[in-house]
Amino acid sequence: MSAEALPDELTYADTDAMDLKQKQAAYHDWEAQSYEEKFSISYDERCIEYAVERLRKVVPEGATFDRVLEVGAGTGFFTINLALGGALDGATLEASDISQGMLDVCERNGRDHGLEITTTQGDAEALPYDDDSFDLVIGHAFIHHLPVPGKAIQEMYRVLAPGGTLVIAGEPTHFGDRISHFVKHNTWRAFMQVTKLPGLESWRKPSSGSHAEDRDAVLAALEDQVDLHTFRPDDVEHMADLAGFEDVRVVTEELTANWFGWSVRTIEASVRPGLLGTRWAFFAFDNYNRFAALDEKVLRRVVPRGLFYNLILHARKPA
Ligand SMILES: C[S@@+](CC[C@H](N)C(=O)[O-])C[C@H]1O[C@@H](n2cnc3c(N)ncnc32)[C@H](O)[C@@H]1O
Repeated sequence: MSAEALPDELTYADTDAMDLKQKQAAYHDWEAQSYEEKFSISYDERCIEYAVERLRKVVPEGATFDRVLEVGAGTGFFTINLALGGALDGATLEASDISQGMLDVCERNGRDHGLEITTTQGDAEALPYDDDSFDLVIGHAFIHHLPVPGKAIQEMYRVLAPGGTLVIAGEPTHFGDRISHFVKHNTWRAFMQVTKLPGLESWRKPSSGSHAEDRDAVLAALEDQVDLHTFRPDDVEHMADLAGFEDVRVVTEELTANWFGWSVRTIEASVRPGLLGTRWAFFAFDNYNRFAALDEKVLRRVVPRGLFYNLILHARKPA
């Protein structure tokens, strides 16, 4: 059920009656227009570097692919930034998502960046493509939304041609996610304490004061119901093994960078709009990169992989 097909007078009882996939479609349709602003998504050097680095952690430079599919593509963040970074040169680009609202934005973003992306609305657990159709299937931050992620991994295996590659990045690990909740909660508490000091109350974002059961509030409240999983790296490898993949490996990333990143996002969500300016954005970006380098160069050697926040799965369908 797309958000457009929903009644104007939407109630919590209506969304309670939806199944998990209807909730995903309704929430992401509603979120599609504000999604990129919320996650600071852009199509420039910053996000190109991020996307290409994720791929390069598991696929060597120089690898080429004729037919590429992104599943759970959202507004096209991963595919478009990879293409702009030259990592998908010469490939036909397809994107699928359960949310038509997301795919509409994805197509528009593709056009704006000179890319032709064919989109097909569908469920990752029953992909709307024939067997053996793609050479590379990618995904970013989406299998944690699926009721049965292993089913989607089997589907991605089915639509890959023999010898084809699967890369799924940006999925939260079980322990990484728990630590990030701790960081978010304590950053928020510290912010509330500091802003009790005289003269600093005005730093806080004013409360909207509205608790109305309006359509936006009802759809926004689905946010707490759409994140279904966090993962242990071994379990994700096991799911790919069971699907029949070979050369299966999970790498994890972001430890201190993630703690820093969540502190920054928690503060950004708590302050009065307009208070943090460009200098804050540079401070956040530069320090995130410093922490990421510390994680990569030093901590990755000594800290167990399950404690890092994000995981990337690489797998290959036997030739
Ligand atoms: C957090 S967003 C990530 C979007 C994009 N990959 C990115 O990194 O910006 C999760 C996406 O998964 C999609 N999704 C959720 N459940 C799905 C399903 N069963 N099948 C396909 N896509 C799904 C949502 O509609 C949404 O676009």
